[in-house]
Amino acid sequence: MRKKIVAGNWKMNNDLAATNTLISELIKKEKTANADVIIAPTFVNLLEASKRLKDSSIKVAAQNMHFANHGAYTGEISATMLKSVGVNTVILGHSERREFFSEDDNLLKQKVNKALDEDMQIIFCFGEKWEDRSIGKHFMVVESQIKNALFHIKNENWKSIVLAYEPVWAIGTGQTASPEQAQEMHAFIRNLVKENYNSTISEDVSILYGGSVTSENCKELLREEEIDGALVGGASLIASDFAAICRAAE
Ligand code: PGA
Repeated sequence: MRKKIVAGNWKMNNDLAATNTLISELIKKEKTANADVIIAPTFVNLLEASKRLKDSSIKVAAQNMHFANHGAYTGEISATMLKSVGVNTVILGHSERREFFSEDDNLLKQKVNKALDEDMQIIFCFGEKWEDRSIGKHFMVVESQIKNALFHIKNENWKSIVLAYEPVWAIGTGQTASPEQAQEMHAFIRNLVKENYNSTISEDVSILYGGSVTSENCKELLREEEIDGALVGGASLIASDFAAICRAAE
């Protein structure tokens, strides 16, 4: 049985004080959720977050990492560094990393390999732009993003992978994909995994939807058969909204 997962991507928001406040609020609301709950604060607050959540069921993820363990890569953070502060999950391939930091499939493949080598859980993001969808190329774009960065991994690696479909046109825009659009794409993705691996793997992999998920629209999205959870940006910064989304994933 695949897991229900709700992950909050805090992006470049919340200084140390705000991180602590939000974590305290989330801890108070924690018992209400049955889904796996993950938060991804900024790098500088990961240590504090993982200390605060040590005895909690809420896991801490990084928003990115480098593909090397150490070396002359000014400004970068490695998997071993993340693990040393209690972080064993990483978001890779977010559209903002692709768009503003020129991360391409090849680079992401190297990051995926490193994260797997280090036994980390990966939330792998992908999704089409509006211009792709408007000319009917959304399936093709998503297929190539997944294939190029992920379809070299071994069968046993899939237990470490969570997929996150995030149409770029829906991120931070308030223009959520309809449940039908998301369901259709998730079914396509699951079938892709089945064709390239097998049905056990495709049935077990959790596929999250991300892009303007709110406490209002989460129920109708999460009720879809193929949607196993959500990757939440803006709404993950408000404890009550995030908790409502976690409850909807149960
Ligand atoms: P959003 O962001 O919920 O603010 O649209 C989602 C994401 O970027 O993961």
